[in-house]
Amino acid sequence: MDIQWLSHSAFRIQAEGKTVLIDPFFTGNPASPPDAENPGHIDYILLTHGHGDHIGDTVKIAKETGAQVVCIYEIAQWLGGQGYENCIGMNIGGTVQADGLSFTMTHAIHSSGYVSEDGVVYMGICAGFVIKGEGKSVYHAGDTDVFSDMALIQKLHEPKIGLLPIGGHFTMDARGAALACNELLDLEVVVPMHYKTFPVLTDSAEEFKKLVKRGRVEALQPGETLSV
Ligand code: NI
Ligand code: MN
Repeated sequence: MDIQWLSHSAFRIQAEGKTVLIDPFFTGNPASPPDAENPGHIDYILLTHGHGDHIGDTVKIAKETGAQVVCIYEIAQWLGGQGYENCIGMNIGGTVQADGLSFTMTHAIHSSGYVSEDGVVYMGICAGFVIKGEGKSVYHAGDTDVFSDMALIQKLHEPKIGLLPIGGHFTMDARGAALACNELLDLEVVVPMHYKTFPVLTDSAEEFKKLVKRGRVEALQPGETLSV
């Protein structure tokens, strides 16, 4: 399984011969790697929630690639209104089976609204995902604070790879994410995300690394790929 970090919360995962794009925020993202908004063949797009830095370029990329979008029910409805119908609307706790992969939507503590010209559009609630394929289990936490039920996610889905926000202000900071690693999750590899994209996301991978006692921190550069 190949896990490519595309900056912020965006990842491209390749497994079981399929390509999955998560939270494709490239336009207006100062940390985005070159040409990320033209990702080539994509089979699935997973969306954790409705904020602009996660929905990002979804409508454009979905229409260009025909990828199936997997997201919470309300975002699937909204995408229908944007003229894109190839969506699977689901909710927390549910699992979608897809060509040998599976996507389970998990709890996250955050908000989810899309800022449009007409005001803030309700987009359901925020979520994370557990992605399984090739015998691997990957937990993308979405935007969230640390919460003790991360231990239930670990128990149910046994992720060995975690993609965790660490930047603070809109999500848990390095200290909160390290507590998740040290006390609630049991990850072998953890990739920090959602930090330093904007000045307000202050915490760094170095600070996070110092605090993590359980699991190996892999701080990727935007565009870099981790093979697991
Ligand atoms: Ni958010
Ligand atoms: Mn965010």
